[in-house]
Amino acid sequence: MTAAARPAAVVVLAAGEGTRMRSVTPKVLHALGGRSMLGHVVAAVRALDPEHLLVVVGHGRERVTGALADLDPAAVAIVQAEQNGTGHAVRVALESLDGLEGTVVVVPGDAPLLTTETFRALLATHQDNEAATTVLTAELPDATGYGRVVRDEAGQVTAIVEHKDADEQVLRVREINTSVYAFAAAPLREALDKLGTDNAQGEEYLTDVVGLHRGAGLTVAAHAVPDASEAMGVNDRAQLAEAARVLRDRINVRHMLAGVAILDPATTWIDADVVLESDATVLQNTQLKGTTVVRRGAVVGPDTTLTSCEVGEDAQVRRTTAEGAVIGPEATVGPYSFLRPGTRLGRGAKVGAYVEIKASEVGDGSKVPHLSYVGDATIGDRTNIGAATVFVNYDGREKHRTTVGDDVRIGSDTMLVAPVEIGDGAYTAAGSVITQDVPPGALGVGRAKQRNIEGWVERKRGAGDDQGKHRT
Ligand code: UD1
Ligand code: CA
Repeated sequence: MTAAARPAAVVVLAAGEGTRMRSVTPKVLHALGGRSMLGHVVAAVRALDPEHLLVVVGHGRERVTGALADLDPAAVAIVQAEQNGTGHAVRVALESLDGLEGTVVVVPGDAPLLTTETFRALLATHQDNEAATTVLTAELPDATGYGRVVRDEAGQVTAIVEHKDADEQVLRVREINTSVYAFAAAPLREALDKLGTDNAQGEEYLTDVVGLHRGAGLTVAAHAVPDASEAMGVNDRAQLAEAARVLRDRINVRHMLAGVAILDPATTWIDADVVLESDATVLQNTQLKGTTVVRRGAVVGPDTTLTSCEVGEDAQVRRTTAEGAVIGPEATVGPYSFLRPGTRLGRGAKVGAYVEIKASEVGDGSKVPHLSYVGDATIGDRTNIGAATVFVNYDGREKHRTTVGDDVRIGSDTMLVAPVEIGDGAYTAAGSVITQDVPPGALGVGRAKQRNIEGWVERKRGAGDDQGKHRT
């Protein structure tokens, strides 16, 4: 096998409505593993470094084109105003590339599991055979709905027949067309100009190029993908869930082989772009989304959802929901903690049960152990925030910041009414409402002084009251 040359163009077919999804979202924008189907396809083909990357759009074209611009600014959206079939789609795309020579790769936008390695292998087969068409095929246990690969006695591909056009004999074939091809540009163009619509769906089928090339005596090759699950085309939400499961297993295996401990792969969902260092541990029922990074020695889970978070070395995060948070090395978070965007926890910091933190820094070794809300705050090092403290950051119109220094002891149930500053080493008395700055080393007390009213219970409730028995 020779190293395959750079393709002249890759054409991604993404104009179809995807009726079977029954959704207002265009089919190729439905997501799995933290990326749209189109995102997976574009990522896989971009690695081939094609001279032109074209995406044929039609249904929901504004949304698809917008998504494409975010995925790859160099990709070009080609509008296929009417969806007259996969062959028509490729013809429209090639009209924008006058005089193109070399290899054209075609990929359906609804095949999110295809890998770059498979495209490379397809291109190598195409090159080695000097073929006009090379089709990527797969053997499926259930080929229902797919186009079937028809071969002659010599084993050469003669045609692809759509399920809807197939007779009983063809329906028994289990080798299917993945809808991925490598073509030589010039004979592709010639065949596309000859496509008819005399078929069950009244469309210009790209699959007919195979029969036309074969009929013209050109070489048609086939490359069978070893892992048939890659070939899956997603047409409805049940197939999307199935593809997501396959992708989940593939991602989990990749991380486990790279040294990550995943205790229950069946309940662990890790997005494609997540980074896990070796000797990280992921416990049951955990979802790691977006651009989350988990460093070595960290333990995440069980029952944890992290979206675009960073978890430092040897940190522990259990039963936690967090988004856009940076969790320092050796920090401990949870159970039942909620970290929102802009949270930064220092080395060895602790966040405990029923604590919500937003847009705040918690310094090295500082603790927010129980039942607190920390919003828009900067907390120094080695500071303790007593149970049920609230950083009162919102005056009904605007948010304000609170600064708490190093080595501070905030008493339980303190309201820190922002903007306010607590100096290094200061204390606040439990139950205080702190509205003024507390200087370093001072005790801030902001509560009514307690008084006891002797005999109140007997006077108020009388001897017949149940409470009377407590009187002294
Ligand atoms: C197609 C193949 C079939 C193959 C299967 C693999 C044809 C005729 N059939 O069938 O042999 O087994 O894929 O999954 O090619 N599209 C356009 N413009 C159009 C029509 C379709 O861009 O006018 C796009 C769709 O958005 C989709 C892709 O082409 O991404 C394939 O179309 P789809 O309708 O899903 O074809 P299948 O019936 O799955
Ligand atoms: Ca399809």
